[in-house]
Amino acid sequence: MCGIVGYLGPSQNSVQIVLEGLKRLEYRGYDSAGVSFIDEHNQMQNFKKAGKLENLKSELVGKNLVARTCIGHTRWATHGGVTDNNAHPHSNDILSIIHNGIIENAHDLKSQLEKEGVVFKSETDSESFLELVTFELRKGMPIAQAISQSFKKIHGNSSFVVLYPKTGEIYAIKRGAPLVAGINDVTSEALVSSDPYALAGMVHKLYFPEDEVLLHLSAGNHHLINFYELDLTKTKRYLSKKQDLSVQVSEKGEFEHFMLKEIHEQPELIRGLTQYYFGGEGYESLTRVAKLKPMRILVSACGTAAYAGMVAKDFFEGLNRIPTIVELASEFRYRNPIIQANDLGLFVSQSGETADTLAAQAMCKKAGIQTVSIVNVEGSTLFRDCDENLLIRAGVEIGVASTKAFTQQVLTARLLAAALSGKLDDADYRVKLAGKFSLLAERIDQLLANIDNIKNIAESIYHKKGFFYTGRGVYFPIALEGALKLKEIAYVHAEGYAAGELKHGPIALIDEDIVNIAIIAPDLYEKTISNVQENKARKGIIVGIGQLGDKEGTRLSDYYIGVDFKGLDELAPLYINVVNQLLAYYMAKFKGTDIDKPRNLAKSVTVE
Ligand code: M6R
Repeated sequence: MCGIVGYLGPSQNSVQIVLEGLKRLEYRGYDSAGVSFIDEHNQMQNFKKAGKLENLKSELVGKNLVARTCIGHTRWATHGGVTDNNAHPHSNDILSIIHNGIIENAHDLKSQLEKEGVVFKSETDSESFLELVTFELRKGMPIAQAISQSFKKIHGNSSFVVLYPKTGEIYAIKRGAPLVAGINDVTSEALVSSDPYALAGMVHKLYFPEDEVLLHLSAGNHHLINFYELDLTKTKRYLSKKQDLSVQVSEKGEFEHFMLKEIHEQPELIRGLTQYYFGGEGYESLTRVAKLKPMRILVSACGTAAYAGMVAKDFFEGLNRIPTIVELASEFRYRNPIIQANDLGLFVSQSGETADTLAAQAMCKKAGIQTVSIVNVEGSTLFRDCDENLLIRAGVEIGVASTKAFTQQVLTARLLAAALSGKLDDADYRVKLAGKFSLLAERIDQLLANIDNIKNIAESIYHKKGFFYTGRGVYFPIALEGALKLKEIAYVHAEGYAAGELKHGPIALIDEDIVNIAIIAPDLYEKTISNVQENKARKGIIVGIGQLGDKEGTRLSDYYIGVDFKGLDELAPLYINVVNQLLAYYMAKFKGTDIDKPRNLAKSVTVE
């Protein structure tokens, strides 16, 4: 969702530093950008523009940007259209603020403030916080108190950064939304952001505050950043960590898009994950989780991560016989789910900041059960809130379409299943499982070295009217994930279906302009073939993905992608998923869409 960056320090280049941070956050998706800074004459300057960061940069050309303190924002519209006026920062003569999240009672707050004579300049909910703080300041309240008192009055999940020109200081606070601060104590710089990635290479130490902790960034502070409770007593409610992210990860190298780069990273990441969990630090975390001996596993996640959870269910039920319920976090949180003692809450997420997933975790925690994450971003809110964490070690994922994270999530779940089975200590078992991981990496390498067939098929079908991805059993979540990838980056209608289910309704849609991407796996082979036949009989275009050399699959298909399932066993769905990732990527490329930053989407969905 919205990106936040704030800088305070001796450098007079604060605007450039903030713009660099915002650039790194572009991958999260946004529709406008802006900055506020305090110039060399101690005057606050504000610039904001709808559209890409480049629009804002053009606006800044020729301006005097000498400034030691700056805050910047990339907006993903929720309240109010995409206009210059609705872009952040929101400012008046005494204050400037940036916001990520939603103020649920903004309407009421605005009405109350309007009665006091406040005139709002934008349609946003965010401006209500600006005017609330300003209202308190005008009554004579000191700034820190004005922020904490105002923060108490707003409902919903939000993070705010406030620039106070009178003292040249920055304040930040959050509830249920991401916020991280960092310091470089050599150069005496302090930064704040919604994403640690924006601060990579700029700071040595990161601080992740808990909810309702007020951060005060000040050059005059001995510590550069001080942390306070809402009653303004000092607090230690934050996690600190060495900053070890590299900036280089943000480069596309030889690849045209981050998505393609990230697809290609998968074999190496699989090898890394094997080492981490079999030979490295990860082993301990797996054994700790296995000791929880759950009677049931409740998986909550969103989007691609939820599909990874569905594959995980197959492992936990198939291999461990542990009943597993997978639910979309956005549904789970508003039902009255049955949560029992000895259940384990398992939360799958790339970012660790997805609002619904966080809410589901909080519900489980409140119900008193153990919560575990399968997560990519170490130090994210989910990581901090769960009792245990299993890192997926996917590195930074920039493409909005999640690819490598899915593979790593599923493999981490497979490792957890191994740990839960109690066989992880058995050397033979470990060698066998590590061998399977390594075979998967090898097969993906081979696939990536021979993509011409997939590319040609993508070129032949990308303009078709609609796409049904079908699969049975554990290939059903793979079908769902394949369809999600295609619709989000190629903007075409695609659905994932259990192959046996089409005849219960959707088959009515099949005609010569509809493509059936059919996963013809060795499991339930004959039944799947019959389903393909039903679609072919209705003139559907069949793209079969099946065993190399399978005559029947090839004969039935208009286009056939032969792959080698042998030896991969329960990991084969991940291999097929890479085929789907490539198909989606090339279809989007032929359509000419913005693959890494598809329209209307954000990388990390921090609002519900
Ligand atoms: O960061 P998370 O894994 O929690 O994100 C969940 C979904 O928002 C995410 O997987 C989304 O569906 C992706 N854009 C899919 O490619």
